Amino acid sequence: MAPSKLLTLFLSPALLVLLLRPAASQSPAAVVRGGYWFPESGFASSAINSKLFTHLFCAFAGVDPQTFRLTVPDANQPQFSTFTQTVQRQNPSVKTLLSIGGGNANLTTLAAMASQPGRRKAFIGSSISLARSYNFHGLDLDWEYPSDTTQMANFGALLAEWRAAVAEEAGSSGKPPLFLSAAVLYLSYYYSPSVPYPVQTISNSLDWINLMAYDFYGPWLPTMTAPPAALYNPGRRESGDNGVNSWIESQFPAEKIILGMPFFGWSWRLVDPENHELYSPANGKALAGDGSAGYDLINAFVAQNRGTKVFNSTVVSDYCYSGTTWIGYDDVQSVSTKVAYAKNRGLGGYFAWHVGADDNWTLSTTASQAWGA
Ligand SMILES: *[C@@H]1O[C@H](CO)[C@@H](O)[C@H](O)[C@H]1NC(C)=O
Ligand SMILES: *[C@@H]1O[C@H](CO)[C@@H](O)[C@H](O)[C@H]1NC(C)=O
Ligand SMILES: *[C@@H]1O[C@H](CO)[C@@H](O)[C@H](O)[C@H]1NC(C)=O
Repeated sequence: MAPSKLLTLFLSPALLVLLLRPAASQSPAAVVRGGYWFPESGFASSAINSKLFTHLFCAFAGVDPQTFRLTVPDANQPQFSTFTQTVQRQNPSVKTLLSIGGGNANLTTLAAMASQPGRRKAFIGSSISLARSYNFHGLDLDWEYPSDTTQMANFGALLAEWRAAVAEEAGSSGKPPLFLSAAVLYLSYYYSPSVPYPVQTISNSLDWINLMAYDFYGPWLPTMTAPPAALYNPGRRESGDNGVNSWIESQFPAEKIILGMPFFGWSWRLVDPENHELYSPANGKALAGDGSAGYDLINAFVAQNRGTKVFNSTVVSDYCYSGTTWIGYDDVQSVSTKVAYAKNRGLGGYFAWHVGADDNWTLSTTASQAWGA
């Protein structure tokens, strides 16, 4: 090793932090208070109160179906390329990750990219170059989801090769290695234990996983209201706690699990306005579009319609209703309870989808305060 490199290594701030921190306490840098931002939300990245976050995810970059290289749509390049600079104005220490894929990504293209070594190499190389040229601190893959054993194996191969490439790049650039994370299903397997995630490889390769502990229910299950992001759900599989347990039982380290929370809700149309509990009869969505609404709009709906808000502490979910409109979502009590849960379980932090849906930073502030110092 060249002397200059040794010097860099010994004087690196990361190493000093490591040496100076008290052995028993968790390094604050290891906690993720995360949030996703995406341009289609209509929320300006410059308006993000980045002091409330340690990590912000800029979503989404895509994969070119021909070359398998990372792509950012032309229209998004001005915002993506300046995202880090923009959010660091209010919080110079906030870290940024470029998020890839997402709920609307082409799953055929993602699977095809991961299926061959040459394609993975093209993707990995281009992702690292783009992250560096846009000044991101890391990369986050949201493949929702690898859905059979072959795709799971290819997902594992991709992550292992990505980690090796990121380490190599850090060695040659002298910069801190890029963070690598992935958004994963709340369960450690694709709905059936016979299709497990490659848990050991994920643990070895990623800095953390973003557990998507939401979207358990929505108006795509039209016949009854339900808690879209329940933390507990007696007698049912769909809960954040079941998800966390499944990953931990698969030997995934708790401190690399980041608990996801929705800053939005899903609506249903009640069959009977007098029957407005959880699991009441419904017939489809109540709101326009896909039937979802951000927390800010939910508050506006309740104010305008003199709606009723309810927190159910058994499942840890909020809901509100007015007339035949019923919305399941996370309000202050759900968010604070979930963050306290994450901390008590020894998880690495929490993240929100998505920051632009917060209402005057109420939920982001609640979450940050619930985690504490
Ligand atoms: C996904 O990409 C493949 C090529 O990789 C293409 O054939 C297919 O039409 C795309 N699907 C959608 C829904 O856009
Ligand atoms: C909370 O929800 C559960 C599950 O639906 C239900 O059994 C319980 O009665 C609810 N609690 C309250 C106080 O309404
Ligand atoms: C937004 O939050 C700040 C800080 O809590 C508060 O001072 C302000 O009044 C709030 N604004 C509105 C419109 O609620």
